[in-house]
Amino acid sequence: MKQAVTIEELRQARAGLKGRLGFVPTMGFLHQGHLSLVAQAKQDCDAVVASIFVNPTQFAPTEDLDAYPRDTPADLQKLQEAGVDLVWLPTPEVIYPAGFNTWVDVEGVSAPLEGTMRPGHFRGVATVVAKLFNVVQPDMAYFGQKDAQQVAVIRQMVSDLNIPVEIVVGATVREADGLAMSSRNAYLNTDQRMAATVLFRALQAAQIAYKAGERNAEALRGLMRGTIEAEPLARIQYVSCAHPLSLQELEHVEQGALLSMAVHIGSTRLIDNLVLD
Ligand code: PAF
Repeated sequence: MKQAVTIEELRQARAGLKGRLGFVPTMGFLHQGHLSLVAQAKQDCDAVVASIFVNPTQFAPTEDLDAYPRDTPADLQKLQEAGVDLVWLPTPEVIYPAGFNTWVDVEGVSAPLEGTMRPGHFRGVATVVAKLFNVVQPDMAYFGQKDAQQVAVIRQMVSDLNIPVEIVVGATVREADGLAMSSRNAYLNTDQRMAATVLFRALQAAQIAYKAGERNAEALRGLMRGTIEAEPLARIQYVSCAHPLSLQELEHVEQGALLSMAVHIGSTRLIDNLVLD
């Protein structure tokens, strides 16, 4: 597995990769969710590039940039074992050199939910992903369904800016008890880890009601709220039942609607979602 830090090193190594190129951008501290995206990219493509970059511009000053878990040696081992051809580990100075002054703002779909709770987050995500795409020039890029709004924002950006890359979305990978895999799960102590299953339980409660015929979106939101409120360690930031593309809240639930939530377990903020089918 080749490694690159600078843009020149990345471009040189990328030029040696022939055929269809798959790209898995990450912020490191890799888990099975990331590795399932790599496995999917390996199946679809002739070569796979991964990046590890904890992107400072998608964290607000009050958020966990400094505390964000990092373990580059373990990540490199996992990527090597997964058969990645090239890993890019840019420094913040490589991505944001002195004088950097161009931002990608995806309007509309960036605004609700995570956009309301984390102002500026998607501007940072869209900007870094556009830069990563420009440098890596992949044919296909892989993102997890767990960050459903991020996927919607990136799809909109790729379409609006005519970026020639196919976006592939990998299913959320869950622990045996349903907790969606996330690098931030590392923050949870034993009691909080048990409490964190409430996100998936809430999504399941709404899904069961939907399957039983409930089509009132507020009733589904209420079921999710009620399940989470019964867990003493959980604090709701939002629950949503929204259109899967616009992310606007629904009154009447249709097939394909996106149930999503952000919940604090102690001081750890977790998100999860489920598409009704
Ligand atoms: O999902 C993530 O890990 C990040 O938001 C991404 C897409 C790598 C951009 O920094």
